[in-house]
Amino acid sequence: MFNCGQLAATGMKIKVAVLGAGGGIGQPLSLLLKQNPLISHLALYDIAPFTPGVAADLSHLDTPVKVTGHKGPEQLCDALTDSEVVVIPAGMPRKPGMTRDDLFNTNASIVRDLTLCIASCCPKAIIAIITNPVNSMVPIASEVMKKAGVYDPNRVLGVTTLDIVRSSTFVGEINGVDPRTVKVPVIGGHSGITIIPLLSQSQPPCKLTDPAQIDKLTKRIQEAGTEVVKAKAGFGSATLSMGYSGARFCNAILRGLKGEQNVVECAFVKCSLAESEYFATPITFGKNGMDKVLGYGKINEYEQKILSQAMPELLKNIKKGVEFAKK
Ligand code: NAD
Ligand code: LMR
Repeated sequence: MFNCGQLAATGMKIKVAVLGAGGGIGQPLSLLLKQNPLISHLALYDIAPFTPGVAADLSHLDTPVKVTGHKGPEQLCDALTDSEVVVIPAGMPRKPGMTRDDLFNTNASIVRDLTLCIASCCPKAIIAIITNPVNSMVPIASEVMKKAGVYDPNRVLGVTTLDIVRSSTFVGEINGVDPRTVKVPVIGGHSGITIIPLLSQSQPPCKLTDPAQIDKLTKRIQEAGTEVVKAKAGFGSATLSMGYSGARFCNAILRGLKGEQNVVECAFVKCSLAESEYFATPITFGKNGMDKVLGYGKINEYEQKILSQAMPELLKNIKKGVEFAKK
């Protein structure tokens, strides 16, 4: 996934903390990050007692990244201190029949409490939030940082990369090409109808032209998470594809920190593109996290329609997060 020759060239020392590192996403994500030449120190934190074991296991990989394990709230600040990037996959995953919003009650306080510690131990870190519901967790983390007086909207990012990875995979299958050569922006949010793949902007163009087939593919992308939840039959949601997507997103942040220009990924961020305060859109990365909001350009009538239909749900998810954090 990464070019290991890059390390010597950059001379950078970047500490990355993964909060929830013992979980279904946390472990494969950490495995991939241990191989990232832009990272010097990977701090693995979880409330699970076996977290130091995960760190010991990963520390045997023959890559130059130092790995430390931290378990329980009393060790959280050690994990966070000096971290420039904090990735959060901590929290409960869905079971069949649940929506992402059904996770709100459990995960809201987890993200709030973790962000509170980030605000005091590494307030300048770039925070990448994987925990669901992303549409509400990003507002919660933002409000916590605001209350602590350390909020920078460019440093609080919701991870929607899995929607882009899935879109590339499905269009790649349809077009009969390597999915890594396919780019499809996905805007809006990260849950059900708020996931808006812009198939009209697919590069190379998606071979489907029949509106009914486009609608079917759009719905498959929107429901892809549920497809995995059902297939895992009560044993969690997407973990491996999310580990891959989280590592790719983290790498984009690191490349931006390194000073590389024009690194583009979609993310759920604070911006003024839509009626909602937060919106998933293509962005670029820089030395302070998000550099530019690229926006989503021209969209067709169908995409406009599904975006309008999604907006009430997105506004509701955001409001719920803001109100929880303000309580
Ligand atoms: P999991 O249950 O396998 O792992 C979660 C981990 O979080 C566990 O190890 C648990 O001990 C830890 N944890 C719980 N409370 C914690 C706390 N206060 N501090 C630190 N760690 C804590 O779940 P998973 O499959 O890894 O999923 C994690 C989250 O990611 C879920 O909310 C899931 O819905 C979400 N998710 C998001 C996306 C996305 O695209 N953004 C994709 C897949 C899953
Ligand atoms: C996904 O899209 O796979 C994640 O958001 C997990 C889920 O609950 O679907």
